[in-house]
Amino acid sequence: MSIQALLDTIAQHVDPLLDQGRVASYIPALARVEPRQFGMAFAPIDGPIEGTGAWRTPFSIQSISKVFALALVVAGDGERLWSRVGREPSGSPFNSLVQLEHERGIPRNPFINAGALVVMDRLLSLAGDAAGAVLELLRAESGNPAVDMDPEVAASEAAHGSRNAALAHFMASFGNLENPVETVLDAYFRTCALRMTCEDLARAGLFLARHGLRADGSPLLTRSEAKRIHAVMLTCGTYDAAGDFAYRVGLPVKSGVGGGLLAVLPGRGVLATWAPALDPRGNSLAGLEALDVFTTRTGWSIF
Ligand code: DON
Repeated sequence: MSIQALLDTIAQHVDPLLDQGRVASYIPALARVEPRQFGMAFAPIDGPIEGTGAWRTPFSIQSISKVFALALVVAGDGERLWSRVGREPSGSPFNSLVQLEHERGIPRNPFINAGALVVMDRLLSLAGDAAGAVLELLRAESGNPAVDMDPEVAASEAAHGSRNAALAHFMASFGNLENPVETVLDAYFRTCALRMTCEDLARAGLFLARHGLRADGSPLLTRSEAKRIHAVMLTCGTYDAAGDFAYRVGLPVKSGVGGGLLAVLPGRGVLATWAPALDPRGNSLAGLEALDVFTTRTGWSIF
């Protein structure tokens, strides 16, 4: 079966799931999204991108942006980040506060909110405009200069950001932030509010599948750094569902509460899915099923 036929089959297969799960409701701009939508794209490293359904509809990538922010910090700082952030799965929800006190303000990993705030903090020190640096990377790698931030989502994140503010202040009390809390939060909220399509996202992630090489052939990451980011995605990219994703999909994946999933097939390509209805752990319900079917049918996984 061709990839295009497989993608179309998957779109039909997940259709009944689009009525299950719930769209993120913590901010009005996300709560309004129509849940019956599904898009999926596959970008191979050496051929044309293919997609199905709503693969050209822009959506809020939310926490998927955390992979790109991490890549920029690893590119600028090498291993130094790991004295301030761990790389162990948390087994807790993405916005949990509980581990931080016992672990002296060092977040378990860079993909839970606390860890992503530390990554943004470091990116502010390295790049000045941290959200702008992530946006620039996404535009360059997707080849789409229209990729942008949704100001309404960013404002909503800030208006409902008490928990993220609590995480940031708590880490600041342990001396684990270099920049003012308000500056870090602003960069974090704006990065979460980036908006793009499955097509853009799959293309933008290709530097990971190319073991660190950007679209123009220049290296963003070394092969070893790309491997390490894949490992953190596999173990921590879908929060307390990382074990289930590894079991069912067998690829490094990063999720976002906008319903997007980014999955890397190292050396082969990138899959992006979007279906806004989430399971109770905050991951796209139909997206997980779609990735499961894709890797099961093709046999393409890292295992
Ligand atoms: O920090 C938040 O609550 C959101 N802006 C991002 C959360 C997110 O996407 C977590 N992912 N699954």
